[in-house]
Amino acid sequence: MTSTAAVPSAPGARPVVGHLAAFLRAPLAFLRGLPAHGPLVEIRFLGKPLVVVCDPELTRAVLVRDRVFDKGGPLFERLREAGGQGLASCPAAEHRRQRRLMQPAFHHSRFPGYARIMTERLDIALRRWHHGQTVDLAVESRNITADVVLSAVFGTSLDPGLHGRLAADFDTLLAGFTRHTLLPKRLRKVPTPGNVRYDRATRRVRSSMADLTAALRRRVDAAADGAPAEDNLLSMLIASRDPGSDLPALSDEELVDQAVTMYSAGTETTAGAVNWALFLATTHPAVLAGLTAEVDSVLGGRTAGWDDLPRLTYTRQVLTEALRMYPPGWFLTRQTEQDTELGPYAIARGTVIAYSPYLISHLPDLYPDPERFDPDRWDAHGGQPQVPVTVFGGGARKCIGDEFSLIEGVLMLSSLLSHWRIDLHSHTLSTPRLPQLTLNPGPMTATLTARRHARVAVR
Ligand code: HEM
Repeated sequence: MTSTAAVPSAPGARPVVGHLAAFLRAPLAFLRGLPAHGPLVEIRFLGKPLVVVCDPELTRAVLVRDRVFDKGGPLFERLREAGGQGLASCPAAEHRRQRRLMQPAFHHSRFPGYARIMTERLDIALRRWHHGQTVDLAVESRNITADVVLSAVFGTSLDPGLHGRLAADFDTLLAGFTRHTLLPKRLRKVPTPGNVRYDRATRRVRSSMADLTAALRRRVDAAADGAPAEDNLLSMLIASRDPGSDLPALSDEELVDQAVTMYSAGTETTAGAVNWALFLATTHPAVLAGLTAEVDSVLGGRTAGWDDLPRLTYTRQVLTEALRMYPPGWFLTRQTEQDTELGPYAIARGTVIAYSPYLISHLPDLYPDPERFDPDRWDAHGGQPQVPVTVFGGGARKCIGDEFSLIEGVLMLSSLLSHWRIDLHSHTLSTPRLPQLTLNPGPMTATLTARRHARVAVR
């Protein structure tokens, strides 16, 4: 069947800006309103059309046909400035090879080891806090997830100076990301203070990662001469060879691409999920009571470890529901590589397609009363709950860190509540002025009260 129908346009476009003002003013409400206009809807940002997929089956069709709907569009062009051609941003033609090299690091057999790293890093972070302290959980959670990813990727905990610099540079990148994605190239190149800061942060993120990669390569070389062997993602990549060849599979530049990719894909995302779960639980007393009861009976005041996971089922339900309501990767794009069809519509080569895990997670046909925070949606009666549709993407480009982040999220959420009572200073959040790459809550200031029975211990 040949389809010729044109994709309908969303109403409300303004001269010049199109739908951009409405999108920037209230991005989530804007997205929730689109499915009323059809399964595919065209919107315009500053004259540039963008087709948003509003139907779960068509979203799946886009994700599965990853050579037709390839990574591309302004969002991935910006991501490539920092992450180069790493796993998350490389085109489909490069992807199978990279994924094959990387997949063993995310094999099930490695999860107990990663969980041990998570418990250790959590223990250190939680021991630093003290009774009565006021913290910004947005910052604290991000520091913990950054530490975990870097321990898993590089096998070292970070020295505080580098940690602080990376975090600050990433903040600058995230703060400027939307503006840089939307601005035409000639305006991005004007040396305004914001553009200069953004470009400098991009360069410094890469140079910090290059330093870490070089240090690891020296340790890998030393291991060949008898020093203790390294066992982490990057050392595995350094040692990998292309089939039938003795040459390294990845150049130094490509190793840095992967390091930046893992850091950026694995830090803000998991931290955001945990913070939304904490925020939603603390503003829903019945959920918090259920969560605390489970945490106390399973952990008895300890930090959580791998063996506790099968019994932390309600904690996982709460995290899952938070991921559904506020999926960290909320708006992603693809570039159409050939004339094709999608459902009843003809899609021309070059069309930029957007899919939104947020929009799909809020369809009432899939999730009745979608604005209600209800962890019981995910009650798997003692088993592990499913994951909300598309929250980790799909097809060949599905998140490689999905299980890693769910394990980390459950260990983090339960351990935080095992040791501390968390009193948020405000039950309303101030969201960033512009929507960001990840859908994280803004600052979350809270006072910590030590829970009496708590003791910090590594399992
Ligand atoms: C709650 C946490 C997380 C969420 C919600 C999430 C979400 C996603 C989504 C939606 C995609 C697909 C992007 C697209 O279609 O363009 C993706 C890809 C990816 N994620 Fe995650 N992610 C999370 C945690 C992690 C972690 C912890 C890591 C690494 C340790 C990671 C590494 C990656 C990588 C490398 C890709 C690209 C995969 C490929 O193209 O083969 N993510 N993630």
